[in-house]
Amino acid sequence: MCGIIGYSGQRKPLPILLDGLSRLEYRGYDSAGIAIIDGESLTIEKKEGKLQVLKDHLVDKEINGNIGIGHTRWATHGVPSDENAHPHYDNNQDFAIIHNGIIENYAEMKEVLLNENYEFKSETDTEVVAVELSRQWTGNLLETVCNVAKGLEGTYALVVITIKDPETIVAGRMMSPLVLGVGEDEVFLASDSAAILEHTNKMIFLENGDFVEIKNGQYQLFDIDMNEITREVQLIDWEVSEAEKSGHDHFMYKEILEQSEVIERTITGRLELGSEQIPIDLEHAKKFEKIWIVACGTAYHAGLFGKDLFEKVLGIPVSVELASEFRYREPIVGKNDLGIVISQSGETMDTIAATELLKDNGSHVLALVNVVGSSLARMADSVLYLHVGPEIGVASTKAYLGMLVGQLLLAKHWDEFNKLETSFDEISELPFLIKKALECEPQIKEISKSINDKKDIYFIGRGLDYALAAEGALKLKEISYLHAEALAAGELKHGTLALIEKGTPVVVTASQHHLLDKTTSNVQEVKARGAYVIAIGDNSSKKLQDISDNYVTLPEASEMLSTIISIIPLQFIAYHVANLNGESIDQPRNLAKSVTVE
Ligand code: G6P
Repeated sequence: MCGIIGYSGQRKPLPILLDGLSRLEYRGYDSAGIAIIDGESLTIEKKEGKLQVLKDHLVDKEINGNIGIGHTRWATHGVPSDENAHPHYDNNQDFAIIHNGIIENYAEMKEVLLNENYEFKSETDTEVVAVELSRQWTGNLLETVCNVAKGLEGTYALVVITIKDPETIVAGRMMSPLVLGVGEDEVFLASDSAAILEHTNKMIFLENGDFVEIKNGQYQLFDIDMNEITREVQLIDWEVSEAEKSGHDHFMYKEILEQSEVIERTITGRLELGSEQIPIDLEHAKKFEKIWIVACGTAYHAGLFGKDLFEKVLGIPVSVELASEFRYREPIVGKNDLGIVISQSGETMDTIAATELLKDNGSHVLALVNVVGSSLARMADSVLYLHVGPEIGVASTKAYLGMLVGQLLLAKHWDEFNKLETSFDEISELPFLIKKALECEPQIKEISKSINDKKDIYFIGRGLDYALAAEGALKLKEISYLHAEALAAGELKHGTLALIEKGTPVVVTASQHHLLDKTTSNVQEVKARGAYVIAIGDNSSKKLQDISDNYVTLPEASEMLSTIISIIPLQFIAYHVANLNGESIDQPRNLAKSVTVE
C-alpha cells in the first residue's frame, strides 16, 4: 500500500527510482512522483495516474544528482491527483517527503499550522509532516525528522530529503515496511526487497522506531532519540528474474504457471518427520488447547482450508478469523492457545494488530508468510516460510497455493494417526499433479468465453471445496469486476437459489470425494433452475459429468491433494474472463497488494 524507493550513491538516481517504482507499482497506482537533489536544486515531479504517465512526462528531462526518492500511491487522504501525489513539500520547497501509512493526528497538526499561516496544496496527511519539518528545522536533518516523528500518531514509513543538507537522506519507520538495501558505496531504500533486488541482495529490515541517516552511499541507524543502533544484514536468496514477467503479458499469468516449481520449494526438506524446517513439533502441538487462524483476503480463505486439517489431526477447536474483525472484538484467547497468522506480505496492518493481540494474551504465534524478514515473521514466535518467491500480481495465486501446502505440511507433521489419509510420498507428487492440472487451461479459456459477459457468477462447494469456492469467487471479482459469490452448496436452498435463472453460471468444485453425492444433488437443484454449470473434479463422478454443461477433469489424487489442485482451474477462470474483457489484470482498480492501512 504505497510504494517507497530511495537512492544514494554515485549513479544517477532517476532510472533507479523509476525502475524501482515499476517493481513497486503493485502497491498502489493512483499517482507517482520523484524528488532528486543535484547539489544545488531540488526537483520534484509528480503525476496522477499510473507510473507510465510520470515516465512519459519525464522522458525528455535530464535530471542529474546523487540522491533521490520516489513514490507510487494508493490513495487514503484525498483523491488521486497531481496535488495529492507524493513527494510532498513545505511552503518554501526546501524539504521533500514520501510516506506510506496514515498520520492519525494530522488534522490537529494542520490546524496549528494553518493558525500560523502555513499553506497547504493537498488534502493529504503527509503534507502536514513536510510543513512541520521546515517549521522545526534544527540545522540537522536526522534530528529534525526524529523531533517531528515524536509528535506523530499513526503509522509511517517516511523518507525525507532537503536542499538544506543536499547529501543526506533520512528515513524512519513505524508499522509500515521499510527495507534498506546495502550496495558497494550505494544505499537503497524500498517498501520491499524485490524492488531493489537487482542492485543488491543484502537487506536490513528496519524495525518500528528505527531511523536511518544516509550520506554518500553510506548509512547509520538510530533510534528516535538518535542513539546509534545496529541491525543484522540479511541475504535474500530470491532471483531477480522471479520478479519479472519473463515474456508473459501479466505477472498473474506467470505466477499461475510457475506453481509447480514453487511448490517444489515449499515442500523441499519438509517431508520427513522431525524435519527442522517444521517449526512446531507434534509434542509441542499436542499441548495447545485451541488454534486461532487469523488473516485477511486470500490468506483468510487459505485459513478456512487449514481449520478442517488441524481439527482433524489435533482434535482441538480451530477458529478462523478475519484479522480486521478479530482485533476489535474481545476474543477469549488463552496462554495455551496457538495463533496461526497467515500472510503473503507479512505486512498487512490488520494481521499485525491481530498478532499483537494474540501475543498480549500469551499465546504462541506461528506465522505462515512468504516475505522473508517481514514484520510478521519478526514478531512471531515461530515462522514457516512459504518459499514461493516474489508475488507481484495483486490477485494472489501461487502464495495462496503455498499457504494451503504450508498448512498441509504442518498438519501432516502433527498427524499421529494418519487421519489426513495422505502420505508424505503422495505430497511429494504435488508438483507433478499441479503440472498436470495446469493442462486444463485451453478448456478453461474456451469456457471463459461463455461467461465473460455475465453479471453474476456463483461458486459452490462442500467441505474444503467451499473454502476453494470462496477464493475462486474473490479471484474473479477482484480482476474482472464481475459479481461473484461463494456459497456452501448445501446453503443455496436457504435463499440464494432464488437468484439462479436460465443461463446463470454456477462453478462447482467436487474434490471432496466423500461428499460427491451431496454436491451432485445440489448441482441438480441449480440445473433444474436453468443454471449453466461448470464442474471441476476427477474421473470418479460420472453422474456429475453428465449433468454439467462443462466438466473440467483433473488428475486423480487423494482427496486432500485433489482439493489443493482444484484451485488451478478457478485461477484460470478469473484470469481468462478478465483478459477477455480487457481488464488491468495485475493492477485492478481500487486495490493494492499490500494493505498497510486499516
Ligand atoms: C490485499 C491483497 C490480497 C491479500 C490481502 C492479504 O487485499 O490484495 O491479495 O490476500 O491483502 O495480504 P497478505 O499479504 O497479508 O497475504
